[in-house]
Amino acid sequence: MSAARATTGVVEGVVAVVGQVGRDLVLRVDAVPGAGGSAAVRERREVLGGKGANQAVAAAQLGTSAALVGVVGDDAAGEEVLAQARRDGVDVRCVVRREGARTALLVDVVAGGERRLLEDVPEEVLLTAADVRAATGLLRRSAAVLVQLQQPAGAVSEALQIARGAGRFVVVDGAPEDAAVREEVLGAATVLRADAHEAELFCGRALRGADAVLAAARELVGRGPRLVVLEAGAAGNAVAWEGGGELVPLTAVEVVDPTGGGDSFTAALTVALLRGEEVERAVRWATAAAGSTVRRAGGRPALSPDELDEQADLLT
Ligand SMILES: Nc1ncnc2c1ncn2[C@@H]1O[C@H](COP(=O)(O)OP(=O)(O)OP(=O)(O)O)[C@@H](O)[C@H]1O
Ligand SMILES: [Mg+2]
Repeated sequence: MSAARATTGVVEGVVAVVGQVGRDLVLRVDAVPGAGGSAAVRERREVLGGKGANQAVAAAQLGTSAALVGVVGDDAAGEEVLAQARRDGVDVRCVVRREGARTALLVDVVAGGERRLLEDVPEEVLLTAADVRAATGLLRRSAAVLVQLQQPAGAVSEALQIARGAGRFVVVDGAPEDAAVREEVLGAATVLRADAHEAELFCGRALRGADAVLAAARELVGRGPRLVVLEAGAAGNAVAWEGGGELVPLTAVEVVDPTGGGDSFTAALTVALLRGEEVERAVRWATAAAGSTVRRAGGRPALSPDELDEQADLLT
């Protein structure tokens, strides 16, 4: 394992994130009321959200230049979330403001370490292939392109083709519903990260137990990506690369809200790898990032490289 610290390296170039941008309304309650009931809200936040935005914000917090490719509406919410992204240091020049569309709203109701998500994501604010094509210049010159796979297949394919065609470092998070697009993803990704459900989609079978997940990660490395990280429940994350593999445990934190854990993980993993960290260290750093985000309500990260260094040191 490398003794180098992730805080010491400088990332040349931009991390471009292709994915969802919206507004998050985070509400923390003691217990979710049943039909006809009500509950007092203990904590409320309205912030920039969406998986793509959260990944870009995480990358910026970790000291890289970050840019976003996504879509918001031409409403006041769109204006506000873009202003917040700019304050976060994220380049939003490739975020489309769709005429007549309303910006996605994601309501995250958090109680007792679990969340319930209410999603208003209009069709018009999903990325199209044309939106992605308009960002070709950015994708071609970025150090890494992070593609969040919950976007429509056409947009995902376009992003993969442009990034791969330019020889970029391609990081993907998620799993497309369409089997043909999953194959395309495996062929184009340098790094693949997937949660437990998404891992099963890629493998085409149920994965029971951490050993089965690790075997699946090794198998997926054989199908294209150089590095595969699959969520392995309480055992942590199964990591495989050519010639190696291991299970990396989770950080010892109390989970307030699992939302955004994977997004912080993916962003931090990308930043650490771009800085030249060894895989083992990069995955621990990413785990520390996920741990930091699940400790608070909402998917918006609040990461600091020093904190991640400290937390990563604790993971054996
Ligand atoms: N205590 C912890 N320490 C480190 N990582 C954790 C901890 N608890 C959960 N995680 C990680 O959080 C991640 C959650 O991944 P997942 O992809 O489901 O989240 P997401 O896509 O960001 O959010 P969402 O579920 O809102 O789509 C997993 O990688 C999991 O290992
Ligand atoms: Mg995820």
